[in-house]
Amino acid sequence: MGSLLLHWIYHSRRRESIDSWLNFSPWQTCLQTHKKVNHSTTAIAHPNVALIKYWGKSDRAENIPSTPSISITLSKLETKTTITEADIDTIWINHKKVNDKKILKFISQIREKTAIAAIKINTENNFPTGAGLASSASGFAALTTALNKHFSLGFTQNELSAIARKGSASSARSIFGGIVSLQGPSWEAAIVEQNSSWPLKVIIAKTSSERKKVGSSQGMELTRRTSPYYEPWIREAKSDFDDCLLAIKEQDFEKLAELSERSCLKMIGTMLSTSPPLIYWNPTTLECIQAIRKMRDAGTAVFFTTDAGPQIKAICTPESAKEVTKSLSSIVGPTNIFGCEIGGNARIV
Ligand code: PMV
Repeated sequence: MGSLLLHWIYHSRRRESIDSWLNFSPWQTCLQTHKKVNHSTTAIAHPNVALIKYWGKSDRAENIPSTPSISITLSKLETKTTITEADIDTIWINHKKVNDKKILKFISQIREKTAIAAIKINTENNFPTGAGLASSASGFAALTTALNKHFSLGFTQNELSAIARKGSASSARSIFGGIVSLQGPSWEAAIVEQNSSWPLKVIIAKTSSERKKVGSSQGMELTRRTSPYYEPWIREAKSDFDDCLLAIKEQDFEKLAELSERSCLKMIGTMLSTSPPLIYWNPTTLECIQAIRKMRDAGTAVFFTTDAGPQIKAICTPESAKEVTKSLSSIVGPTNIFGCEIGGNARIV
């Protein structure tokens, strides 16, 4: 009976767009029908690094960005999330039980519309958590993917992207591998380039292990309310996005470097002009930026980007990777360097 109802939900839902489906309430009567199963389901997703940044929300309830963005999904770094049915929702991150309100809210949003039982979520990251390396992007992507499979919800990758977005907008992009865009009106991510066609490398230099003091959502809202540069930032975002798509299509590294660094620095400009100011960088961040700029001036194909944190992400060609790794290692030490390539989709393992 339970599976028949889920089947019905699945096919009825196809007639609706994802957002209207998520807002449809009568199915809540079906929620009690899921029978507890003992097996667990595990999914993996990779973090991503944005080249054209998103900073600011146009709709906080739906978690809709105010700017379109483009990112690279990272190989090697991954979040592995296992869900098992339980009597109450519990969340474990890296072997520690946590009371993560963002994840609990996300689960209850999904539960309002689907037949998902209480669950134990067990998440492990093979990279530092909450340190500006996009663990929330890979985390929500892995969780959404695992829930979809475990409860046979039948969502497509595009739909999963829109659902993951509700947890963290950047996680909408981590559903997909390769170079990925996120733009309206659907605000589902889409693949721009598959990983094989432009073999870029991303070298991450971890300059600090501290957890950020102001989280992204809070920081974005402060910026929207107080930065005099917020309006120009929003105004220019679409043309930066379009120009970047063209640079990717033409595999124009110089153009991509120029646009990406500019998008990052414009975002940082809005953060610095927020009241109180959001200063996410530290002196080592700047030291790495100077080293990257020096290499590029000398002809090495590399550029930098940073997010709401002090870590440096250096994007380079395979030919430049050795030199970039050596240079950044000499600043942060080899154990703080993570060499990545372009990663794949979120998936069940
Ligand atoms: O999606 P969130 O809430 O993790 O915010 C991500 C914001 C940035 O990382 C700074 C930029 C981006 O587009 O990823």
